[in-house]
Amino acid sequence: MLSAAGATAALVAAAIFNGALAAGASAPDIDYSDFDEDQMRAMDDAIKDLDSNVGGHDADAALANTTVLRDGLSYAEKYFAKKPEAPLGAGFAREAQEHLATLAKSIEAKDFDAANGHVRALVKTCKSCHEAYKPPE
Ligand code: HEC
Repeated sequence: MLSAAGATAALVAAAIFNGALAAGASAPDIDYSDFDEDQMRAMDDAIKDLDSNVGGHDADAALANTTVLRDGLSYAEKYFAKKPEAPLGAGFAREAQEHLATLAKSIEAKDFDAANGHVRALVKTCKSCHEAYKPPE
């Protein structure tokens, strides 16, 4: 016979488990055959370049990098909006675009310290989506 505390713990565990399922299929089971990885590779180059341009206080070059990221993230948002097995994907892409918008504003204001913080926040959001949905190599 389960004690009351034991039963509660079991319910909580079930709730957490269901929460995990709500995140969708696990990454290795998702079909990415129609995914444009070039967009991701372009973003990878752009964010590395952006990081060094923010460090070097080169606003024009940094703003050019943000354009590449805007295109890639908008592609990702549209792609994941049609991917019910990865229901959190579009939200991650939107969150990344919000970080990118504040990042671009701080570059325009030549506030490179703030911009640096927004680059970190953006990279974290790339990673959140990858942790949830990018299949292991
Ligand atoms: C909404 C989810 C999502 C976001 C946001 C996202 N990615 Fe990805 N990314 C993926 C998925 C899914 C894959 C794996 C695709 C596959 O295996 O075909 C991937 C793959 C990659 C790859 C590997 C590409 C290759 O050569 O196979 C790189 C590099 C990458 N992402 C960079 C980034 C960067 C940089 C950002 C942030 C600016 C970012 N991604 C944001 C979902 C995302």
